[in-house]
Amino acid sequence: MSDLVRFGVSLNSDLLKKFDEHIKKHSYSNRSNAIADIIRDQLIEQEWVSNEIVTGVITIVFDHHQRGLSNNLTNIQHDHHDLIISSQHIHLDHDNCFEIIVVKGHSNELKELCNKLKAAKGVKHARVNLATTGQKV
Ligand code: NI
Repeated sequence: MSDLVRFGVSLNSDLLKKFDEHIKKHSYSNRSNAIADIIRDQLIEQEWVSNEIVTGVITIVFDHHQRGLSNNLTNIQHDHHDLIISSQHIHLDHDNCFEIIVVKGHSNELKELCNKLKAAKGVKHARVNLATTGQKV
């Protein structure tokens, strides 16, 4: 873990008031943690753009009764096994399945994988959420 560094921030009082409301709403213990989160969010956006290796989850909801869909989704995942760390299948209710797929790779490949899953007939929802440690690889 890297050293903690203190630095001063000058802010307009109205903006600081809004920021403190944001901190309260999101249950941050202090301003430093909130600022660190905002910086990490900005970094992950840059990594998306610069195509760095990132990690994340793809979540999908799909129709359990759609003929051939389970097989289709499994085949897509096997075609991209190098991007997939693990997956979990949840039988959400009588008609719907929910799958959480933990992924790692170039952000454009992860987005492409999510799009392929989304395009399969019977998939009702597909979303990719990426995360970063902030470290370069
Ligand atoms: Ni199921």
